[in-house]
Amino acid sequence: MPTQKFTLNGKPVAVDVEDDVRLLWVLRDKLGVTGPKYGCGLNVCKSCTSHINGKAFNPCSVPVSDIKATDEVTTIEGLADTVGSTLHPMQEAWLEIDVAQCGYCQPGQIMAAVAKVKQVRAAGREITDADLDEIRNICRCGTYHRIREAIVKGAEGM
Ligand code: FES
Ligand code: FES
Repeated sequence: MPTQKFTLNGKPVAVDVEDDVRLLWVLRDKLGVTGPKYGCGLNVCKSCTSHINGKAFNPCSVPVSDIKATDEVTTIEGLADTVGSTLHPMQEAWLEIDVAQCGYCQPGQIMAAVAKVKQVRAAGREITDADLDEIRNICRCGTYHRIREAIVKGAEGM
């Protein structure tokens, strides 16, 4: 069985698993990293949203063999470490606005939010309603209004 190697939340990992297994199952079932949630498995619901090299992606739809040894995967578990704190500013904003209802979609929502703010900053501007409209993460509890408010708040701290 091949050994898959990459960096996960700042640490090198090596896991023996077949090439065609999707990364979400490697994270959750082989490595015990359960922050990225399984919703659809089809790159639709976005509940598994994590970062690869700082950009949002959906590990339910990526075979583990597509991840290179030099790739850095970050899940909600490693987000705060990227800013050297116990919580990322986006997580602080989430708590302050009291966004979560059942909570299932929320790790993915926060990871999508951080990636979107970074993306618009790289383009030299601040986040707009149009940018928020591009985030497609589904929330069955309908917390969208609080999510949008929290992203604007969290961006202020980034
Ligand atoms: S579980 Fe990954 S997009 Fe739905
Ligand atoms: S808080 Fe329940 S699905 Fe979003």
